[in-house]
Amino acid sequence: MNPAYNDLVAKINQWDHEYYVLDNPSVSDAEYDQTFRKLLEMEAANPELVTAESPSQRVGAKPIDEFRKIEHTVKMLSLANAFSLEETYDFFEKAAKELDISPSALDIFSEPKLDGLAISIHYDKGLFSYAATRGDGQVGEDVTHTIKTIKSVPIKLSTANPPETLEVRGEAFMPKAAFEKLNRLALQNNSKIFVNPRNAAAGAIRQMNPKIAAGRDLQFIPYGLGEYEGGHRFTRHSEILDYLHKIGFRKNPHCYAFSGSFDKFEKNYYVMEGAREKLPMQIDGIVYKIDSLNLQSSLGFIARSPKWAIARKFPAQNDVTQLLAVDFQVGRTGVLTPVARLEPVFVGGVTVSNATLHNMDEIERLGLCIGDSVEIQRAGDVIPKVVKVVTKGAHRKPIVMPGRCPVCHAAVERTEGQAAFRCTGGLLCAAQSAERIRHYASRKFMNINNLGAKLIEVLHNNGTLKTIADIYTLKISDIASLEGQGEKSAQNVLDSIEASKKTKLGTFLGSLGINEVGEESAKYIARYFKNLEAIASATFEELMQIPDIGPVTANNVVNFFKDSKNRAIIEKIMKAGVNWEDEDTEPVGKQMLAGQTWVLTGTLQHMSRDEAKACLESLGAKVAGSVSKKTTCVVAGRDAGSKLDKAQSLGVKVMDEAAFLAEFDLDF
Ligand code: IVH
Repeated sequence: MNPAYNDLVAKINQWDHEYYVLDNPSVSDAEYDQTFRKLLEMEAANPELVTAESPSQRVGAKPIDEFRKIEHTVKMLSLANAFSLEETYDFFEKAAKELDISPSALDIFSEPKLDGLAISIHYDKGLFSYAATRGDGQVGEDVTHTIKTIKSVPIKLSTANPPETLEVRGEAFMPKAAFEKLNRLALQNNSKIFVNPRNAAAGAIRQMNPKIAAGRDLQFIPYGLGEYEGGHRFTRHSEILDYLHKIGFRKNPHCYAFSGSFDKFEKNYYVMEGAREKLPMQIDGIVYKIDSLNLQSSLGFIARSPKWAIARKFPAQNDVTQLLAVDFQVGRTGVLTPVARLEPVFVGGVTVSNATLHNMDEIERLGLCIGDSVEIQRAGDVIPKVVKVVTKGAHRKPIVMPGRCPVCHAAVERTEGQAAFRCTGGLLCAAQSAERIRHYASRKFMNINNLGAKLIEVLHNNGTLKTIADIYTLKISDIASLEGQGEKSAQNVLDSIEASKKTKLGTFLGSLGINEVGEESAKYIARYFKNLEAIASATFEELMQIPDIGPVTANNVVNFFKDSKNRAIIEKIMKAGVNWEDEDTEPVGKQMLAGQTWVLTGTLQHMSRDEAKACLESLGAKVAGSVSKKTTCVVAGRDAGSKLDKAQSLGVKVMDEAAFLAEFDLDF
């Protein structure tokens, strides 16, 4: 105990509270800095004095090596969304009906929906103990070291009677000013530009080094409790927020209580939508909550969201700017995508100067010409898009698809029945080849261990790797002569190329990067045709015989093998020794699920998703990522969400994990 030291700690914590929580500093920056220095000097001279409450401990932690997992004792829920006033009303009318009371008897509390990251912070007897991200709601990641650097998060609660355990839940976010400062610096230093404050906040929170996070000016505002023991009882949600403010946290600005009727909802919503631009933080909607904790607990939860709260989201943000030019980008599969170059415009917190135009059909649909004034839209993280022409430009110029690929100058063609235009350079087009080589060598496909993306890029840029066939003529000297490489690492690359030569037909077919022919469809095609010659000479009609292959995929396969340049490359690869055994003529296993499509969703307790997928596939089923009318069955694990809802609404058969295990006599 050293009273002078304790006084310093208490003083700085109080000043931090005034500055970061109350926005009301009582001392000058100079006095603050001087006092902080005094504290650091005292701690350096007397390390035994340092307490957990000391403001120096906010950045005192060492950088971490990995994020520890933290289980949430009380599950962290998400919110259902509403996109209109009607949906919001309906939600609360349904709640009132379930409670058997009149809707006008509901007291509703509204808070801005902060656009950041959900964080849980634990306090033991009033002292900051640890913090975690939401994760999947059940298990999050330990981010104590970065959350502790947030000055609006108290290290010690300002109450003489702290609860035994207090878990504060709220949103950690980056205020707009901090975000702009960060990106200004990033521009100067040529480092990564963040798309929006939420991504920037996530980047800061997931830093291994707390010192970096500390410089990012994050904030935290609570919106509720998780675990809570040994404190006084509350009857209303709004009381909890008042209490949290009293013990040291920031309060969400612009919260309102609506009692007795929903009528004021709409006005408030529009006031907030208008105020949004001027708020110091990004908000993406309003959260409405039933204020009575009794009613909240009577209603409970459904799936992963409460039945007593809903988020009404703001619509996407739009603005008008001018279309200056259109460029065409060539992707891995050769598709030319038109990209709008725009007069830069600040929309929803970011400067937008490019937007995707998808394809020529979209340009035609919009009636778009260069020089037009266009409305652009940003919704969350989605790439900005042009939604309509507002005014036609005085000297407007039509947008024309180039006849030749801007990269390799091969002819550009449109496949019949498709919106996309493609470069016909195939495996020879440079825009496609680096990406195609990466795809070919990747773990899922040819699995060439030591030939990673970076090395491919260097070898592609210096002209050594032009196509996937060049992988097999690589020499030790091609690699050993590169910076950071030597004879040994070069030999490792050649060894892994050699080791990868024995493969499977389906894997090889998938590795070629034919558009729409991914891991799954390649497997089906290989199983159906059994050998490469049969696939290469298959007609559109033959390919369409395979249950899971549609016209687009069939067309792409036919066109790929029709191209003599592609055939020549395959020939070279096979000559170099890449080999496989033809697929079995007998289907694998009992194939009792042949022709069926299954979907896995939620968390499975007894096996991983990959194990369940492998099991279904071994029985002949296709395992898809989304539910449609054609889905045979959905296996719903713990916390299944929208896929389960969709299956139920479409009347698709659903089984839980236990039923799934029983159905196939699986012994996990
Ligand atoms: S309440 C059980 N209140 O929105 C209800 N959430 O889309 C828990 N969010 O995961 C959430 N502002 O991270 C609540 N005032 C607010 C909020 C808020 C932002 C976030 C939160 C949640 C997400 C759901």
